[in-house]
Amino acid sequence: MKTERILVTGGTGYIGSHTVVELQQAGYPVVIIDNLSNSNRDVLDGIERITGIRPDFVEGDCSDRAVVKKLFNDYPDIAGVINFAASKAVGESMEKPILYYRNNLNILLNLLDEMSTHATKGIVFSSSCTVYGEPDVNPVTEEAPIKKATSPYGNTKQISEEIITDVINAGAPFKSVLLRYFNPVGAHPSAEIGELPNGVPQNLIPFVTQTAMGIRKELSVFGDDYNTPDGSCIRDYINVVDLAKAHVIAVERMLTDKSEAKIEVFNLGTGVGLSVLELIASFERATGVKVPHKIVGRRAGDIEKVWANPARANNVLGWKAETPIDDTMRSAWAWQCRLRERGVM
Ligand code: UD1
Repeated sequence: MKTERILVTGGTGYIGSHTVVELQQAGYPVVIIDNLSNSNRDVLDGIERITGIRPDFVEGDCSDRAVVKKLFNDYPDIAGVINFAASKAVGESMEKPILYYRNNLNILLNLLDEMSTHATKGIVFSSSCTVYGEPDVNPVTEEAPIKKATSPYGNTKQISEEIITDVINAGAPFKSVLLRYFNPVGAHPSAEIGELPNGVPQNLIPFVTQTAMGIRKELSVFGDDYNTPDGSCIRDYINVVDLAKAHVIAVERMLTDKSEAKIEVFNLGTGVGLSVLELIASFERATGVKVPHKIVGRRAGDIEKVWANPARANNVLGWKAETPIDDTMRSAWAWQCRLRERGVM
């Protein structure tokens, strides 16, 4: 067991919980803080069933300065932070911009403030390919221009990257790794943890699995008149466990002083773009279950096509997306079936 503890904010959430599993399997003691606004305590049982270790858990809201202060005082061994805690629904952010700016930016500011007064070596930040907007060229490298954000959610990711950069350039005694995720999908192969959206899913895969289960009548494919081979939008769907593993590597770099710069930026994607229709076909092929769907109009604000050039992460981190998309689809379906077994949905 390592001695350097990793603080995972939002650690009972979708990507957070998968990352806690990988951290614990790599020997790191973890403390999770989560306000359970979009997750629940049962996730801790899933993590424990997979790893045999129950992570320390603090129920609390990192947008509250006093909560973060107490956390760092209670856990003086925190050596690194991975910040997943954030509001993340694009549509909701258009309706409630103040909530998004207040929540996402205060969480980050409180963490950075507290890290500065403790011997914390670094912070991994969950950023997004949304910072590239509609890219001029695909696949997208980290050098691609940052486009004006199309939603308050996206803007919080851009501003957060700038805040971290300013704070470190001003001499803060820690490093950062900014990870720009493409589209995280799938679940842990054990089906003990996975994505559990509240209400009607806004994202594609939870809608696909719920439709396959019969919870939703039909999936709407938002547009088949895009300038793509089959007319539907193209994304880079990255397996959530592969994604989680990149966080362990990123933390390790900062803790062992291997970072090449105080701030490093990496795209986390597969390098392969898939259309919505190709993804549905993959799900049906992998699971043998049909997904009733119909083509409807475009969704406002959608990007036509975006996929990653992950060369920097491949070469510098030694990380590569490994899971074939069909396996990822099977894992998403196994998780949906587990939720049904448990009577969750
Ligand atoms: C969006 C955000 C991204 C954010 C992510 C998670 C943008 C540009 N991207 O990704 O930053 O991290 O949400 O919340 O704002 N689709 C359908 N039918 C559905 C649902 C989706 O056809 O019922 C299509 C969409 O049009 C899109 C693809 O599936 O082409 C993926 O959509 P989604 O899973 O919502 O992710 P993004 O919009 O790519």
